[in-house]
Amino acid sequence: MYNKILLTGINGQVGHELQRVFSEHHALFGELVCLDRNQLDLSDQQAIRDVVQTIKPDLIINPAAYTAVDNAETEPELAYAINAVAPGVLAAEAAKLGARLIHFSTDYVYAGNKVGLYVEDDATAPLSVYGKSKLAGEEAIRSVGLPHLIFRTSWVYGAYGKNFLNTILRLAKERDQLRIVADQVGAPTSSYSIADTVVNVLDQWQGDASGIYHLVNAGYTTWHGFAIAIVEEYSRLEAVKGWQPLKAQVENIQAITTADYPTPAVRPANSRLDCSRLLRDFSISIPDWREALIAELQALPLANN
Ligand SMILES: NC(=O)c1ccc[n+]([C@@H]2O[C@H](COP(=O)([O-])OP(=O)(O)OC[C@H]3O[C@@H](n4cnc5c(N)ncnc54)[C@H](OP(=O)(O)O)[C@@H]3O)[C@@H](O)[C@H]2O)c1
Repeated sequence: MYNKILLTGINGQVGHELQRVFSEHHALFGELVCLDRNQLDLSDQQAIRDVVQTIKPDLIINPAAYTAVDNAETEPELAYAINAVAPGVLAAEAAKLGARLIHFSTDYVYAGNKVGLYVEDDATAPLSVYGKSKLAGEEAIRSVGLPHLIFRTSWVYGAYGKNFLNTILRLAKERDQLRIVADQVGAPTSSYSIADTVVNVLDQWQGDASGIYHLVNAGYTTWHGFAIAIVEEYSRLEAVKGWQPLKAQVENIQAITTADYPTPAVRPANSRLDCSRLLRDFSISIPDWREALIAELQALPLANN
């Protein structure tokens, strides 16, 4: 039971879901203080110090991040301020209060050239400014030495927010042809699965235990496979839900290579993360990515359709 939890980034995908899931688990905490970017700007170190020392939480959960992966290549200072420096300041301020910290990181800390699944102890070698800034954030937290959990996740999406699911649904309503990258593999991970797992882990988190954990939905696919699954599952639900039909059908979703779709930031080809450590240390279960996708589609707001 926590007296006061400070949650950042509540307008982001994971922050939004954490706020929603926490509202169903009142027994875990006395008060949940939810802050958006206007209330706590993580690029302002003094603001972080002031806010944390005013609120005096006994747990900080930080899903806020600079997540514009391609833009980070041209504004590395801002990406580092939010993803690398801010987590360290949050950790230092939490440590002064004897508080704990939960933070989120990414598959982009890896180079993506491993055959098979990454485990947490594998060598990191980020390919992008974003990945480097997130890795520096992990290191900043670890160097403070307070009790902390860092969850590395991947391919985050949900009914709420700007993400691959909502982009594919928008494009598939506008166009009859889609071209999607088919040579990057990973696990699409729903923001609900992340939030639900974090709340369950929190309930079991004992003493001073700290660590890095992979947290992704089970199974894996490519972006192309994910797009096909989105169109298939949407089409299955469409009649029952009375949703707008899609123009693009599965056979019109063309597989392309990463080289066909160049982006400023280099992405890992293999983003598969092994969650065995999380499943060993905590009594939780993580749904398959396709099951999680169906649940997110069921939760689509009507305005989306
Ligand atoms: N999205 C992915 O595919 C993915 C993959 C792997 C790991 N992750 C990690 O998972 C975590 C959650 O990601 P997400 O998908 O929920 O991200 P998101 O939807 O992009 O949300 C990020 C949030 O951070 C906030 N933010 C940005 N700059 C800020 C600042 N200077 N001060 C305070 N808040 C600021 C944003 O505020 P505004 O709403 O005002 O813009 C937004 O609410 C992050 O640590 C991310 O690095 C994400």
